Amino acid sequence: MIRLLCMNDYNQMYKLWKKSPGVGLRSLDDSREGIERFLRRNPSTNFISWEDGHIVGVILSGHDGRRGYIYHLCVEESYRRRSIGRKLVEHVIMAMRNEKINKLALVAFHDNSPANNFWNKMGWEIRRDLNYYTISLNDNNL
Ligand SMILES: CC(C)(COP(=O)(O)OP(=O)(O)OC[C@H]1O[C@@H](n2cnc3c(N)ncnc32)[C@H](O)[C@@H]1OP(=O)(O)O)[C@@H](O)C(=O)NCCC(=O)NCCS
Repeated sequence: MIRLLCMNDYNQMYKLWKKSPGVGLRSLDDSREGIERFLRRNPSTNFISWEDGHIVGVILSGHDGRRGYIYHLCVEESYRRRSIGRKLVEHVIMAMRNEKINKLALVAFHDNSPANNFWNKMGWEIRRDLNYYTISLNDNNL
């Protein structure tokens, strides 16, 4: 079953992230306070997959009124290759369409082959013509 993510899911969700290589966690952004702020701004674009009495997948995504971004997608290892990842992405796409967002983006580590295979299979375009620039506004957000 897929449903909207809420703050009551935080502990279970964070445990799943922690044990999943490929999910790059940030100490401030992914803290309880950071996620609470994010969900307040983006109440309808974050989902969990619930099976066998616990969370087996999470997708964290939001938009700024123009672009939508997926920040974390994660499926528990023993539940992978059962289309849970695909369904979570489909829910985000539907939610973003409802909010009139026209384009989504995400970042995946080069060496994360499962993730890169997944996004290719989902039909997402890899942009080799762009450099991804960031600047940190808080040195504590590692
Ligand atoms: C990437 C991830 C979310 C995929 O979740 P999933 O539920 O296993 O994905 P799905 O079952 O919906 O896969 C859909 C299709 O993607 C492709 N795919 C998914 N995982 C793959 C893998 N490990 N190797 C090759 N192709 C893969 C397949 O074509 C698959 O279809 P198929 O099973 O019918 O062949 C999962 O591997 C994961 O949580 N990884 C760790 C966290 C992570 O790296 N997140 C991504 C950060 S950008």
